[in-house]
Amino acid sequence: MPHYCPRFSSIVLLASVLIASCSRSGPETPAVPAAGETATTDVMANDDWHSYANTDEYRLDHLELDLSVDFADKVIAGVATLRLDVIGNGSEDLVLDTRDLLIEKVHVGGNGEVGAGNETRFSLGDASDSRGQPLTIAMPGDADTVTIRYRTSPSASGVQWLEPQQTAGKRHPFLFTQAQAIHARSFVPLQDTPGVRFTYNATVRTPVELRAVMSANNDPDAEQNGVYSFSMPQRIPSYLLALAVGDLEFKPMGPRTGVYAEREILDAAAAEFADTEAMLETTEEVYGPYRWDRYDLLILPPSFPFGGMENPRLSFITPTVIAGDKSLVALIAHELAHSWSGNLVTNSSWRDLWLNEGFTTYLTNRIMQFVYGDNRYRMEMALGFADLQADLAKLDGEDQLLAQDVEGRDPDEAFSNIPYEKGSLFLYELEQKVGRDAFDEFLLDYFNRFAFQSISTERFLDHLDQTLLKTHGEDLDEARIRQWIFQPGVPAGAPRPESDAFQVVDAARASWLDGSLPADRLDSADWTYHQWKHFLDGMPEALSAAQLTELDAAFDLTESTNNEIAFSWLRIAVRNDYEPAYPRLESFLTSIGRNKFLRPLYQDLMDNGKAAWAAEIFESARPGYHPLTVKRNSQIVYPDR
Ligand code: BES
Ligand code: ZN
Repeated sequence: MPHYCPRFSSIVLLASVLIASCSRSGPETPAVPAAGETATTDVMANDDWHSYANTDEYRLDHLELDLSVDFADKVIAGVATLRLDVIGNGSEDLVLDTRDLLIEKVHVGGNGEVGAGNETRFSLGDASDSRGQPLTIAMPGDADTVTIRYRTSPSASGVQWLEPQQTAGKRHPFLFTQAQAIHARSFVPLQDTPGVRFTYNATVRTPVELRAVMSANNDPDAEQNGVYSFSMPQRIPSYLLALAVGDLEFKPMGPRTGVYAEREILDAAAAEFADTEAMLETTEEVYGPYRWDRYDLLILPPSFPFGGMENPRLSFITPTVIAGDKSLVALIAHELAHSWSGNLVTNSSWRDLWLNEGFTTYLTNRIMQFVYGDNRYRMEMALGFADLQADLAKLDGEDQLLAQDVEGRDPDEAFSNIPYEKGSLFLYELEQKVGRDAFDEFLLDYFNRFAFQSISTERFLDHLDQTLLKTHGEDLDEARIRQWIFQPGVPAGAPRPESDAFQVVDAARASWLDGSLPADRLDSADWTYHQWKHFLDGMPEALSAAQLTELDAAFDLTESTNNEIAFSWLRIAVRNDYEPAYPRLESFLTSIGRNKFLRPLYQDLMDNGKAAWAAEIFESARPGYHPLTVKRNSQIVYPDR
């Protein structure tokens, strides 16, 4: 195999970096291509297109971080020491992923202390696409440790810096990171691929009045003195590296579960998520032991761009699901379920995201059934199925595959319900075909067999071949399984989750729509959140002003305190120019950063002739939005830029 030298792997890189690290010539070192000659080696040195790292030569084994959080400059000043496994003879260069990092100094060898070991040469490639910039470090001899001193950019894609007024307490600033999919590289230089797992320790220095928490061994009793130490002894991929700093307090919910939040929302969060311990216990009974020690929740300010993020030991959660009635806690079941599907058995590249999200969505439904019973289970499944239908109607065929071709694409842009809901429906079909007990046994064995490993779709298929297809070959059809994974849509005859409780709602909606039953006479007193959601999402595109006024008067929808209901209602309002809801729409869009809500609402505004207003709201909200929220929604609001 020819010696791989990534710095000469593309014309862009060739033109931009001609100092240092590939300059030592050895017998296997390829000649520098002459000007105008195209280098043939592909930049990709591993199976993950989204990482530049040469993981076939070095693999991160352990990371030591020393991070100083500077709120005034919105900078994290870091020292990262990477202990690497050298594969074969290694290489003369180590290539890491970065985005917008200022690299100050790099040392090799030594004991990881700043300045220990020998200073070495490094170069940053150009940022030509969504991957950021490869950092190429010269590795003398058999070096297996590098220490990098660096600073993050104030606009780091994986970090949000919040002003005090964006927090519940309004007194202190707040910071959180969001690394999935490829944003860890914007706050730590590393091999940013889910195919590599490592342990880490960290020291985090903060203003004394704030507390730091990480995806690691948080200690609620740690002295609040501005220096926090963490260790994460279980191997994790880089996208699960996470840090938050704020005025945080802790409240236990059970022996292994608790909540970190600002004092103002701590009690409400602990009450809303009080069933977390029960979820944990029931999941263990069916899918095997929880392997991460504690399971805590961190409630973030509302600008958090997701509903939740499964950072190990500490899921990051939006406060927008605190509805007061536990109606939206499937989110907690989901992030908890990732402790098995995703964090334990991990997709090896972003093409295989469905292995994380599809399995997790399937497990979420099961956990909801264990804890809340059949009725809720069926409604949750039916709502998920409706989300799938909506995406299938809207997405191109190639975006409907489970194993999605994301090469050359920004994973943030390829994001949809497909890996979640189609993945889950596929597993549900398998369950239906082989029976629940056999399928649970299969999953338990899968989690044990691949624990702490990263696998691809093909590896999963291999495993299926050797297990379920052997034991239940007569119930399963391999061609159909491949169709689920590699073809658009869902195969004919796929299950269609339904709920009796929704049939009641459909009948009520129909009577109201045909004028036979006024809104205030609908028999809706006992409807749950799920039924309301189904009621609203099943409305026709067009409703009259009189109809909207009637609904709002009967059910106070504009003022709903359930954000999912408010969201569904506001979409109807935008489509039908229902002006009484506009102030709520503006405050919703400016106070919440969750893209699941923002993107459809901005798109609705654009599709309904309200582009100028959309831009106005977007601009006023922008300073408070997360970088990802800005990126994703400015594409909607400014389609021509
Ligand atoms: N891991 C995801 C969030 C994610 C996925 C971030 C891909 C970046 C790239 C998390 O577990 C998730 O799925 N969150 C959902 C939860 C919902 C499906 C219950 C969310 O945030 O809405
Ligand atoms: Zn998820």
